[in-house]
Amino acid sequence: MNNTKKLFIKTYGCQMNVYDSERMSEALGADGYEKTDSPDEADMILLNTCHIREKAAEKIYSELGRYKELKASKPELKIGVAGCVAQAEGEEIIKRQPLVDLVVGPQSYQNIAGLAAKAVDGTKQIDINFPKEDKFTLLKGARSAQRGPSAFLTVQEGCDKFCAFCVVPYTRGAESSRPVLQVVDEAKHLVDSGVREITLLGQNVNAYHGAGSDGKEWSLAKLIWELDKVDGLARIRFTTSHPNDMTDDLIEAHGTCKKLMPYLHLPVQSGSNRILKRMNRSHDAESYISLISKIREARPDILISGDFIVGFPEETDKDFYETISLIKNIEYGQAFSFKYSTRPGTPAAERDQVCEEVKTARLYELQDLIKKQQKNIQDKMIGRNVQVLFDRKGRFNNQLVGKSEYLHAVNVTDPTIAVGELKNVYITKSNTNSLSGSILNYCSINNKC
Ligand code: 5AD
Ligand code: SF4
Repeated sequence: MNNTKKLFIKTYGCQMNVYDSERMSEALGADGYEKTDSPDEADMILLNTCHIREKAAEKIYSELGRYKELKASKPELKIGVAGCVAQAEGEEIIKRQPLVDLVVGPQSYQNIAGLAAKAVDGTKQIDINFPKEDKFTLLKGARSAQRGPSAFLTVQEGCDKFCAFCVVPYTRGAESSRPVLQVVDEAKHLVDSGVREITLLGQNVNAYHGAGSDGKEWSLAKLIWELDKVDGLARIRFTTSHPNDMTDDLIEAHGTCKKLMPYLHLPVQSGSNRILKRMNRSHDAESYISLISKIREARPDILISGDFIVGFPEETDKDFYETISLIKNIEYGQAFSFKYSTRPGTPAAERDQVCEEVKTARLYELQDLIKKQQKNIQDKMIGRNVQVLFDRKGRFNNQLVGKSEYLHAVNVTDPTIAVGELKNVYITKSNTNSLSGSILNYCSINNKC
């Protein structure tokens, strides 16, 4: 008799949710679940959700609505909501959508199979606790062997910063870091299964302070140097960082650690000191600008990426143009920008809101500028040699796509290369959102082999 059950899992939101979904699938795999791409054949449907903006949260309810008929025709099907919407809304989810059987928060997903077993005959199961013992020590299931050359690895979770617009401190809880040994073991395991690039994840990853082998708290920089020793690991990245946690050792690592890629996502959110104060960011525009200069001194070619919110409560045109001027000053290689979205329970939700039309106009103007900067930096790559880690097939015959050190997507058409390979590429063309180039069959990066 085949006892395999099928799991359909859909992930919303950030990279940490992508990582969490992998861990949920692996843990459920140990309990007899096999992944499927089709909800119709699933025994369990899990939505791993995002609560960061209103639209992201609302998507979940429209998705759940689509499973009404399926659930009616297959009552034994378990439907679960995991992630940040689960944490923020808990029981409300079941009130609003009674076909949901399970609600599981981001800190309690180690026991989904157990909860599913108890969710019979219409009994609902909700686990949105923040357990004392961390889920990573309790999680079943080996890290899956079927993966590409790049992987995420969560090293830190939660946030104590309480920016006035943000739900993360409430949905992910207080800041906590995984112990160094646990992280290094997981990294080695990933490398053994073919991974060459690891992106260390955390809502506030540069606040990492995990317990080291010497019993002391280690900084993110120290962790990176430990991972630098892992044979077979070629590249290390980390995201997302807060400007106030950009310590000197981390800046220095950007200049000296060869495996640490020259890319830094460092959100500033606004260029207006008045708004930054209202956002409770505890840094100002000038300190951010001088921080970026210091980072560029350590690693002159580093590509800077950021996050921006437009239309934060009480933002005036003057405030907005201060953000524009900060962007002009920094020159971003990439950026993510959002209209402020009211999140219940956060301090900014109660304040004077900027109207939708103004938010939309500001977002377009800001994104226009960012697009130009991004393209400008991308165009400057023409004629340069970069290293590309190929991670997927392209649209055309013999075409592969990979990422450069700077996280630019690079296409190369060449029958001699394979997914998983790291190659030197000469950039010949800058397209709308990618670069094209050809393989260099000798090593000429920095004229060194
Ligand atoms: N509205 C709009 N954008 C938000 N972000 C976080 N909370 C909100 C909100 N309420 C953005 C910030 C953050 C990114 C992950 O999402 O820019 O850095
Ligand atoms: Fe949210 Fe980042 Fe601010 Fe923490 S530092 S509250 S995760 S925006």
